[in-house]
Amino acid sequence: MKTGKTALITGASGGIGLELARIHASSGDNLVLVARSGDKLSAIKSELESDFHVDVHFMVKDLTLPHSAKKVFDEVTGHGIGVDYLINNAGFGDYGLFANSDWEKQERMINLNITVLTHLIHLFIPHMISRGGGKIMNVASLAAFTPGPTMSVYFATKAYVLSLSEALNNELKGKGITVTALCPGSVDTKFHEVALGDPALVKERKMMSAEEVAESGYAAMMKGKPVIIPGFKNAMLAFASRFAPRETVVSTARKIQEKKNYHKT
Ligand SMILES: NC(=O)c1ccc[n+]([C@@H]2O[C@H](COP(=O)([O-])OP(=O)(O)OC[C@H]3O[C@@H](n4cnc5c(N)ncnc54)[C@H](OP(=O)(O)O)[C@@H]3O)[C@@H](O)[C@H]2O)c1
Repeated sequence: MKTGKTALITGASGGIGLELARIHASSGDNLVLVARSGDKLSAIKSELESDFHVDVHFMVKDLTLPHSAKKVFDEVTGHGIGVDYLINNAGFGDYGLFANSDWEKQERMINLNITVLTHLIHLFIPHMISRGGGKIMNVASLAAFTPGPTMSVYFATKAYVLSLSEALNNELKGKGITVTALCPGSVDTKFHEVALGDPALVKERKMMSAEEVAESGYAAMMKGKPVIIPGFKNAMLAFASRFAPRETVVSTARKIQEKKNYHKT
């Protein structure tokens, strides 16, 4: 790898992860990209290496599978790559009532959104300490601030990510490692069709772009900010949810889900 800071980004084949990769590469720094779509990762490697003269290593991995965090860590260190920034971005949601949901899908979501993210952090903390420090960014969501009827498991996974990130940011003070939780509202990516299982069910509505969200998240990570909520209205919603009665928060979250979201219940 060329000199410069190396960022490992999960879920870098599209959406927010791809924009984070572009921003990082534009500073002349190297990347390790992880996702399932090898064809997309290969094209992104060519694009970024030719545009920014950086080194891009990619790994084709389904991170819902057991031991995938360890496999990623072993492959990275086996290639002698030092990771300075770990960006846990890969994640997905599933729309629908919990009682009607497919258990295997919920389990894969928990594996990806929680287990792999946590295991990667656990593996990379000693690696970063031995390199003199580093930065971690976990992509949570505005969903982290409220329970989410109709996407209950997804919202709960993001509450976990926010809680873990804030706790670890505190624990790692003095070790040269900062942990940032990026908490976007709705972003214009494939996330919504994945959550619904059908692009035709996604309602047209105004959303932030993946680029805007990535820019705001990357800047916050570089400053070592513990939490970043892109967009003033989203920040106000998160703030208000801390003070309203819990039952009101839950029923409002359900109304918002049903209104803003989908053609499906
Ligand atoms: N879009 C939103 O409204 C929104 C709002 C708040 C938070 N978020 C969070 O933002 C993060 C990025 O989502 P996005 O909006 O950019 O969605 P996206 O466009 O669907 O991108 C998801 C990324 O994760 C990868 N991924 C999915 N399953 C994977 C698996 N099993 N193993 C490895 N990689 C996997 C996908 O690549 P492959 O398909 O190639 O594997 C893709 O690169 C997620 O954590 C999501 O929860 C999104």
